[in-house]
Amino acid sequence: MERTKFILDEKDMPTHWYNILPDLPVPLPPELHPGTKEPSRLPPPLFPEAINDQEFSTESYIEIPEEVQTIYRTWRPTMLFRAHRLEKVLDTPAKIFYKYEGTSQAGSHKPNTAVAQAYYNKKEGVKRLTTETGAGQWGSALSMGCMFFGLECKVYMVKVSYKQKPYRRIMMENWGAKIVPSPSPDTEVGRRILAENPDHPGTLGIAISEAIEDAFAHDDTKYSIGSVANHVLLHQTIIGEETIKQMEMADAYPDVIVGCVGGGSNFAGQFLPWMRDKLSGKKPGLRIICVEPKAAPSLTKGMYTWDFGDEAGLAPILKMHTLGHTFVPSPIHAGGLRYHGMAPIICHLHNLGWVEAQAEDQIPCFQAGVTFARAEGIISAPETCHAIKVGIDEALKCKESGESKTILIAHSGHGHFDLAAYDEYLSGRMQDFEYPEEKVKEALTHLPQVPAGL
Ligand SMILES: Cc1ncc(COP(=O)(O)O)c(C=O)c1O
Repeated sequence: MERTKFILDEKDMPTHWYNILPDLPVPLPPELHPGTKEPSRLPPPLFPEAINDQEFSTESYIEIPEEVQTIYRTWRPTMLFRAHRLEKVLDTPAKIFYKYEGTSQAGSHKPNTAVAQAYYNKKEGVKRLTTETGAGQWGSALSMGCMFFGLECKVYMVKVSYKQKPYRRIMMENWGAKIVPSPSPDTEVGRRILAENPDHPGTLGIAISEAIEDAFAHDDTKYSIGSVANHVLLHQTIIGEETIKQMEMADAYPDVIVGCVGGGSNFAGQFLPWMRDKLSGKKPGLRIICVEPKAAPSLTKGMYTWDFGDEAGLAPILKMHTLGHTFVPSPIHAGGLRYHGMAPIICHLHNLGWVEAQAEDQIPCFQAGVTFARAEGIISAPETCHAIKVGIDEALKCKESGESKTILIAHSGHGHFDLAAYDEYLSGRMQDFEYPEEKVKEALTHLPQVPAGL
């Protein structure tokens, strides 16, 4: 009998996050202060000190506080599956594994960092957190994290998702959070954008600006970010650290790892721990494929340059692949992938040639999601369907070549609140969007001017 599930005992859950910063072959470019545009730590009111330290840490391993581990154990370790049934359906000699983060209470990988961020804020006396959410997964995760540590939580939810996903809002409200559609009348940024266009669908960049403005305006409040930043990727490495142990249980090692990237956190959380073998030369052939939507193709079509992390220019300026911080992506269903930039760590590794990137349309991704659901049973988040699409493509390549490669899919979450999107796909009403080249060109004219020599 071949095993299907690889289950780690709670006592074998990793106790440290892995920080790639000291292991990078070329140092990561600095972050720039949004006001002075000089290299700096994060502007002080933004995050608690412990998070600020982690953002630039030179330690390879950071211990996960016991209080965070205790909460992690309410759903971690998560399972690694061998997709025997999908392999059969595809009739491929490839071995397909997937690490499933959809069993967290919020339904995705996002609580891995939400719980940690809520903990550090609570420890430093913060009473209230603000944040943005696209698909609603991150807002749900932070609402839950705040609930565990007794913090208030206000979530600016991108308007298009707020309308598409009322159940996500209700879920967050259940955990005690306050939710508003973004752009909202609650901030100056939101009021300015609503005055220009009352029907603005919202973007992650705008919602981030609103959440930061709110945090700056209240002494007891800090801001919490769900992706992109180094410390978020750090907290997500628990995924890869667990998977390494589980792949050992399966007596397997991946040839290819695929994952979807919005800001890059779930996939970096999976692949960064594997990068140790690639960087050290032990596994030079290991392929790492980032999958993004064609509607917001920052890695494949964006410019590698300095840009703001948010629409209004309140967040730090990062060196990243960007479509321009004023770019408004088409309203695809993978709301968590509608972001103009990408995690600087991923961009840096991509720029140095260590990781690959591919962009996909939403219809073939939903098609892959349905194939996966009909083989494995799991209904996946639209974001995750991007990873599944390329995982299936790689398995089909093996069918052609006869190779028996090992493919590891980073499965970031379930799609139980995305059934309206599946309905659109199944009834043939779903559409793909052309890449808006002119809009990107225009947005790239608004890049910040940074000091020469950076
Ligand atoms: C299920 C799921 N996967 C992936 C993402 C993309 O985010 P990231 O690239 O930070 O993992 C999101 C974001 O909301 C998500 O909800």
